Amino acid sequence: MNDRTNKRHGEHRARGVSRRDILCAGAAVAAAAPLLATGSRALARSTATTTPLAGKSPLTTLNNGVRMPVFGVGTFSLPTIQTADVVSFALTHGYRLIDTAKNYGNEKEVGEGIVRSGVPRSEIFITTKLWIEDFGYDEALRAFDLSAKQLGVDQVDLYLLHWPAPSEFEKTIAAWKAVEKLYADKRIRAIGVSNFTPEHLQRLMDRTDVVPAVNQIELHPYLTQAAARAAHESYNIRTESWSPIGGGFRNLPADPTNVVHLLEDAVLVGLARKHRKSVAQIVLRWHNQHGFIAIPKSQHYERLLSNIDIFDFELTADDMAAIDALNRNLRSGPDPDRFDVPAFREIVERRRAGG
Ligand SMILES: NC(=O)c1ccc[n+]([C@@H]2O[C@H](COP(=O)([O-])OP(=O)(O)OC[C@H]3O[C@@H](n4cnc5c(N)ncnc54)[C@H](OP(=O)(O)O)[C@@H]3O)[C@@H](O)[C@H]2O)c1
Repeated sequence: MNDRTNKRHGEHRARGVSRRDILCAGAAVAAAAPLLATGSRALARSTATTTPLAGKSPLTTLNNGVRMPVFGVGTFSLPTIQTADVVSFALTHGYRLIDTAKNYGNEKEVGEGIVRSGVPRSEIFITTKLWIEDFGYDEALRAFDLSAKQLGVDQVDLYLLHWPAPSEFEKTIAAWKAVEKLYADKRIRAIGVSNFTPEHLQRLMDRTDVVPAVNQIELHPYLTQAAARAAHESYNIRTESWSPIGGGFRNLPADPTNVVHLLEDAVLVGLARKHRKSVAQIVLRWHNQHGFIAIPKSQHYERLLSNIDIFDFELTADDMAAIDALNRNLRSGPDPDRFDVPAFREIVERRRAGG
């Protein structure tokens, strides 16, 4: 990064933080205060930088001062009929972060689950995402209104550009500018991106004002994303892991002839035995100790309960290194450099044709 860019990013950071500090500090403190009393000693030791808690999850502070739970539930590919029940169950059992997207087609059911749970809205952190077909300034404003309406909320906690859409990047920039406006208007508490490579982040930040608070990327022990993590660190962007336990390999494998089962990996199975935890818990604890926000999806209640039960044990430095060493740079999902509107339409057409 040259001096000019460096200076510009310093300005970005200062601008984002000061604006958000003003908008959100009061709300964040109010939401966290009643939850402070629930922390265990073990949790306070192992996640000292992220306490206090939201439900059962520690909180982290984003680059604009907003506090976000570091652990939540994903909702992609939940059966529609089960979605509200799963969301409500998760919330009443300690989850406070719900990850959805317009493209998942389930924002309405997520909203129903939130109401059904009885957990106050102020304690819940909702992430939703702007789909690539809605990129462009006016399109993005309209799509946000629709998402908020479907969810039944006035304000969204975190709004992400779902993919970078590199072949139509002018529209991506326009979409981000619309999202910046929604942020300034307090319709969104924090704004971020998803599936952006370091190059996409650079291109976005060179042309816009607010540094993304979060980049949600595919991340698990078979795809540890060193370059993306280093870039996030340098820009003060939080890393959020999608398919944190490798679900993408089973649900939507990029290569259906090579379905990988991360949770059957011998190293992970060995660590699960050693710590008397499930393999999923070992992987989710690895995300937590690295400081990643993780959003595993499950439609099974016993798995929802066990997935969040990761704050009472600690992986050693050797355990962490052994998991880090599993990296194969293996994606389950699309390559962000290639996935954009035409590529998406091609996939939809192929599926319609039964391919
Ligand atoms: N930004 C993006 O482009 C993007 C892309 C993909 C996903 N996401 C988000 O990330 C979330 C998580 O990703 P994901 O759903 O692809 O993958 P994941 O959370 O890594 O894995 C989900 C899969 O693991 C199974 N599972 C859950 N808990 C388990 C356990 N304890 N033991 C064994 N299996 C378990 C689930 O099955 P059951 O449901 O049957 O338990 C499901 O098949 C999504 O739901 C979505 O919110 C974002």
